[in-house]
Amino acid sequence: MSFNSYAQKTASITLSNDSKDTISRHIYGQFAEHLGRGIYGGFWVDKTLPVPKQNRIRLDVVNALKKIKIPNLRWPGGCFADEYHWRDGVGPSAKRPKMINTNWGGVVEDNSFGTHEFLELCDLLGTEPYVSANVGSGTVEEMSKWVEYLNFDGASPLTKERAANGHPKPYNVSFWGVGNESWGCGGNMTPEYYAGEYRRYATYARNYPTAKLKRIASGSNAGDYNWTEVLMKNVGPRNMWGLSLHYYTLPTNNWSKKGPATGFGEKDYFNTLKNSLVMEELVTKHSAIMDKYDPNKRVALVVDEWGVWTDVEPGTNPGFLYQQNSLRDALVAGTTLNIFNNHCDRVKMAELAQCINVLQALILTDKEKMLLTPTYYVFDMYKVHQDAKYLPFKLNTPDYEYDGNKIPAVNVSASQDKAGKVHITLVNLDASSSITVTTELKDIIWKAVTGRVLTSGNVADVNTFAKPMTVAPKAFNSAKRDGNKLLVTIPAKSIVALELN
Ligand code: AHR
Repeated sequence: MSFNSYAQKTASITLSNDSKDTISRHIYGQFAEHLGRGIYGGFWVDKTLPVPKQNRIRLDVVNALKKIKIPNLRWPGGCFADEYHWRDGVGPSAKRPKMINTNWGGVVEDNSFGTHEFLELCDLLGTEPYVSANVGSGTVEEMSKWVEYLNFDGASPLTKERAANGHPKPYNVSFWGVGNESWGCGGNMTPEYYAGEYRRYATYARNYPTAKLKRIASGSNAGDYNWTEVLMKNVGPRNMWGLSLHYYTLPTNNWSKKGPATGFGEKDYFNTLKNSLVMEELVTKHSAIMDKYDPNKRVALVVDEWGVWTDVEPGTNPGFLYQQNSLRDALVAGTTLNIFNNHCDRVKMAELAQCINVLQALILTDKEKMLLTPTYYVFDMYKVHQDAKYLPFKLNTPDYEYDGNKIPAVNVSASQDKAGKVHITLVNLDASSSITVTTELKDIIWKAVTGRVLTSGNVADVNTFAKPMTVAPKAFNSAKRDGNKLLVTIPAKSIVALELN
């Protein structure tokens, strides 16, 4: 082995404040579908469960989510949204009809968590609702009436019904999804057919005086660029606030054997990271198509489903998509949020899939027990970027190599908040080498630096109900000032968040 193999790895960053872009807080959004224990057993629990509650909403999870300032919550799906009929979920709970959740485990949905309960939850969280409405099996009239029920402030049979159900004032919901995955579970449509449907549904999903809708079209499955092309060409900025994109990171490249959430080795680790970095290419290429039709960037790219998707935890219902969450998944989250921040001129909204007990969750629960996952802590460390001024940079990074393959070891994003503090979030994906990063700050005045780091002994480490703090942030004291340069040694497999005052 040559001497160089043992040398300290180095990276360099040149950061400037030459930008007019803002990192929208809505990039930090979350997703809660009627799926497995996401709603039932996650947010909405049995009356007898010994935890603090309002109505049947669990307040320990509400308080944990309030700490990370989640800006929006997407509901009721996902695939579930295109089978959901909102009228089944309003009115006295005992009279609500039951349905089969055909997408997710074939379980009985009792509709006890419906429109009012969702909006009560959003109110408790201090978050904006993002309603994903039914195009696949619903009607234009059904969608149109749901908007009226939620947003009209005058007298109508529907607003009387809303008042009788306990909410005389309009809810003023503005984020409005017109279908979900309309290329798949949302109706198996072609992009041309969906573009026509979108125009019709969006027409009758009305703006009311107190709530202008931000209509979001069902977007492409990962690299289906033709979908974006057709939607931008046939709808474009006229009646579309956002166009969505869904991309999931698998440890393997095989949907029938995705790979475990725990106990994996470096091969799965490396492959998961490599797959997560595809998000950079997807966002870049979809944005380039959008630029052709919308050079002024009026239509937002809304990545309203993203995250790591593994095999379910052994012994759990395969239809419930319950998986553990490791340091690896936190590194994917940190990397993906850096990508979104760096594309904040076009990516104005995103939702991690999903908030509690489903896929790459922020929170896991087991009856009255609750834990915060490593991914939760990434959102905690990154919340400082919400609505902050984006700071552009140039990065030189070494590669992380495994078995003849390479990925960039370091990724980063940076912003300046309204008080003038600069926040830099750095990720080192290399499983075994720390990396010394020298940052030159152009036209940025600062005196002192503080930080936090998220790492652990092993990339597969997780938080369990018995040991809930295995992967949790700690104070980071290894950042120093050298002239106007910032010197930081980022540990292997870690996320470092720095604040410069
Ligand atoms: O998040 C789980 C599922 O993944 C959603 O219901 C669907 O939209 C996607 O395929």
